Amino acid sequence: MGLPTTIAIDGPAGSGKSTLGSLLAKELGYLYFDTGVMYRAVTLAALKHGLEIPDETAVGDLAYKIRIDVQPPSVDDGRDYDVLLDGEDVTWEIRKDEVNAHVSPVSTYAAVREAMTSQQRRIAQENKVVMVGRDIGTVVMPEADLKIYLDADVEVRAHRRYQEMVERGDKAEFEAVLRSLKNRDNIDSNREIAPLKPADDAHVIIADCLGIRQVLDQVRELIKNV
Ligand code: DC
Repeated sequence: MGLPTTIAIDGPAGSGKSTLGSLLAKELGYLYFDTGVMYRAVTLAALKHGLEIPDETAVGDLAYKIRIDVQPPSVDDGRDYDVLLDGEDVTWEIRKDEVNAHVSPVSTYAAVREAMTSQQRRIAQENKVVMVGRDIGTVVMPEADLKIYLDADVEVRAHRRYQEMVERGDKAEFEAVLRSLKNRDNIDSNREIAPLKPADDAHVIIADCLGIRQVLDQVRELIKNV
């Protein structure tokens, strides 16, 4: 088989999967699609509309009404892409604490997942793609040519997240970052629909002691052997 045209990368928050996906997509000339931004955009929309996050019906209905576009970056401020919510640039807003706090519960809702999964499948059919998320290898693209599951110990991930925040000049407290990651891991892994887990045919990479370059080297080897 030649180069894989659909590559699924899954893993918990802070495992480095977005960085890996972005670098890999650039190297291969493929579309990079970080599906987490869609769940984040729905969460932001719910907050902007003043919905109660536990109101599953209202949040689910909203997920079908909003338009989320992910397109090439229009601003040179470190972003990999623009995220538009009903035409408004929300690329950085979807990363704020309030969204972090609510995105995992929102992503457990069946209607939200249904709305997002069908859009993701369409994108996968239309493009050579590196798609990153939690359920890409298991649910969104079960036929992906190559599946990677990138994991690392939660303390290692929290440390990396904390460093990134400090470098960006954000206020950060290590214990709070660790708590938040543990909480998201718990919700993402234990939800009923499309929980975070490696697909049976995924290549699991544990990145506790690996930098992004070493992870990328391992993935290049896997690509050669697909
Ligand atoms: O990758 P991220 O941290 O931006 O993802 C935000 C949330 O979205 C995460 O807590 C779980 C959810 N998510 C999901 O359920 N399925 C995906 N394919 C991607 C993200």
